[in-house]
Amino acid sequence: MTRDTSDMTAHGTGEAEPVREHAASGGLPDTPSVFSKFSAYKQLKRRFREVEEKQISLPYFLPRDSVNDAVVKWADGQYINWSGYNYLGLSGHPEVSQAAKDAIDQYGTSASASRIVSGQLSLHEELEREIAAFLGVEDAIIFVSGYGTNVSTISHLFGRNDLVVHDTLAHNSIIAGCKLSEARRLSFQHNDWDKMDAVLEAQRDKHKNALVSIEAVYSMEGDVADVRRAIEIKEKHNALLMVDEAHSLGILGKNGGGICEHYDIDPRKIDIIMGTLSKTFASCGGFIAGERALVQLMRYSAPGFIFSVGLSPADTGAALAALRVLQREGHRVGELRQRASFFRECARQHDLHMGSDDLTPIVPLIVGDPHRCMRLSQRLFELGIHVQPIVYPAVKADSARLRFFITVNHTEEQIRDTLATVARELRALEALGDAAN
Ligand SMILES: Cc1ncc(COP(=O)(O)O)c(C=O)c1O
Repeated sequence: MTRDTSDMTAHGTGEAEPVREHAASGGLPDTPSVFSKFSAYKQLKRRFREVEEKQISLPYFLPRDSVNDAVVKWADGQYINWSGYNYLGLSGHPEVSQAAKDAIDQYGTSASASRIVSGQLSLHEELEREIAAFLGVEDAIIFVSGYGTNVSTISHLFGRNDLVVHDTLAHNSIIAGCKLSEARRLSFQHNDWDKMDAVLEAQRDKHKNALVSIEAVYSMEGDVADVRRAIEIKEKHNALLMVDEAHSLGILGKNGGGICEHYDIDPRKIDIIMGTLSKTFASCGGFIAGERALVQLMRYSAPGFIFSVGLSPADTGAALAALRVLQREGHRVGELRQRASFFRECARQHDLHMGSDDLTPIVPLIVGDPHRCMRLSQRLFELGIHVQPIVYPAVKADSARLRFFITVNHTEEQIRDTLATVARELRALEALGDAAN
């Protein structure tokens, strides 16, 4: 797609309403109320005020008018978009959208009950069977939320006498699940396998069951975990391993099969495979895959499954169609990898130091100072490029970053233009120095 900058920005016309408003209150009213006295509210208000004083606009909750694709629409502007998880371009794919519509026509808009009560659809079974076959495991079970999948699974399977060990950069849903389980919770430094070994060495014997919870690809860093090492260590200590494949399915492995295909690991070596339906699979929800006993245990007793409605027909139909398109159009996986590598190549040419692993489509540009990062994001938005700033508490206070999600639908031209603009604007902000942050 050719980028015509004059058309790309809402601000280019000089007439359109700015899409990103100056911070003002961020929608937090000043009027005293019960919750405005909460310290978390006051803290949030303070952070928004700081941003406002620096004349930085808040980038949150902009209502988009189009599919979350390589180009998106806000108000009357079009933007090159780097902030969506639509890795393989399957959200908005005609076959996936049609499947969601067909599912609504057949089943209505809601599963209308927990599946164990009367909310079961044949589509649910089909999706679970096909996920299990895709991953090469016995069975799978789907939940209405990826976040809820981690929380429900960890908290249901582990308890007071158990140990849960996780990477320090674990997703919040993993940590929430560990806390809810009431198991002893310990962490090890990011991807530091010797530390993981040491924690288990010191603590394993004191607990009944032990779980190690890691991610195949970390969503803030974009790096790939050495799951082969994790397996070796968990086997040595008779622990169980849970791998969150939210950002690796459809991405790693020649066919997008994820971390096991990537390392040629027997998937049965991972005790609990977790995935989301909201990223590659263009839908909403999550799943657990593994041996049948695990899945049946969850199906009949996990509170987050039995006390919650079944996945909606549209979401189920969309995820199933996306999985089928992924398997039929395997070239998308290779094309995505090629785009990600082209992106990094261009970044290097501009002397932009992007973190993460060359294989993944998640590319963080560490800016450091949160205000500089927000200002850079704002400036890019004014120039027709949408990339979200990631700041505390999502990452450490001094490691604010712009996080680029590359999709198969990004063109080389969009990549080249974006990185030239990012390099120019970042240098301009650096030249202004700290006073301008
Ligand atoms: C690693 C990881 N796990 C779980 C989730 C939760 O998935 P969902 O957004 O589909 O609820 C996310 C979401 O971003 C994630 O990045």
